[in-house]
Amino acid sequence: MDGTVIITGATGAMGAAATRALALRGSTVLMACRNVLKAEEVRNRILAEVPGADIRIGKLDLSRTNSVRTFVDSLGPEPISALFNNAGVISREYSLTADGFENTFAVNYFGPVLLMRLLLPKMIPDAVVVNMVSLTCRYVSIDGNSLKPSGKDFSQLGTYARSKLALLRFSLEFARRHPEVRVNLADPGIVNSNMIDLGHWFDPLADVLFRPFCKSPERGVQPALNALFSGERNRYFVGKRCRAIPSVYLDPDLDLRLWLTTEDILRNELNL
Ligand SMILES: NC(=O)c1ccc[n+]([C@@H]2O[C@H](COP(=O)([O-])OP(=O)(O)OC[C@H]3O[C@@H](n4cnc5c(N)ncnc54)[C@H](OP(=O)(O)O)[C@@H]3O)[C@@H](O)[C@H]2O)c1
Repeated sequence: MDGTVIITGATGAMGAAATRALALRGSTVLMACRNVLKAEEVRNRILAEVPGADIRIGKLDLSRTNSVRTFVDSLGPEPISALFNNAGVISREYSLTADGFENTFAVNYFGPVLLMRLLLPKMIPDAVVVNMVSLTCRYVSIDGNSLKPSGKDFSQLGTYARSKLALLRFSLEFARRHPEVRVNLADPGIVNSNMIDLGHWFDPLADVLFRPFCKSPERGVQPALNALFSGERNRYFVGKRCRAIPSVYLDPDLDLRLWLTTEDILRNELNL
């Protein structure tokens, strides 16, 4: 792949696996991470296996819109061929970021949305954006009010699922408005990573009974890698399959309403 591939959350289980896979293919990778020391450890591990791999690190905290802007400003004139919005979080408790967003929505939705918007002018024609979604999206619904949940609307899994559904819907509208880039969705399934440690009393039990049956990060990230390299657009990658967007998600009117609400929030609250 010509140009730089940006991977957010490249310190995490699937982000690191994706960085390694791309390094093995000879891609130029920019690890966009909030913890630079941790990113250096991941990079060093990969370099030991793939000497000479072209991997750089950029600081990016998706929970802070200022950090997203600084990250994009720090990029040189290099062409961006792909953005893999992989970073994600399941916040245990309700909290607000400095920008006034609920934390899960800040990291899983507003951060990636802003990143896509700001990176657009730097993307080469036919660049690809791959957004990581989740099978949990199927079990929730959203409207404009969901983007800024209050404390009483919050639940750990429900808010996570709604943030991912918001990203899915934004992606569909983004694809309609920006045909110059290709947008694909990737659903990893259930993967053995820190993310499935929900911080509850039953976690040790789940570690014994549940974790062994989860996919490895290398397997979980495969749909996203397929989405990056397929040459396809507007597809939903899950398991080994590349399928049309599932019909349960097809609602262009709702996508548009969410897009407009998001635009309002970014414009009115963040002066964007
Ligand atoms: N695991 C699953 O079963 C599963 C299922 C469906 C979808 N997914 C999605 O797959 C993606 C990767 O998850 P994973 O399982 O590999 O989880 P993970 O190992 O916990 O990795 C999450 C990554 O996101 C980063 N991150 C968290 N908050 C951030 C912030 N404020 N700014 C920038 N980066 C931040 C983490 O950085 P630190 O290293 O600094 O913490 C880490 O690199 C996520 O989007 C997740 O929602 C996972």
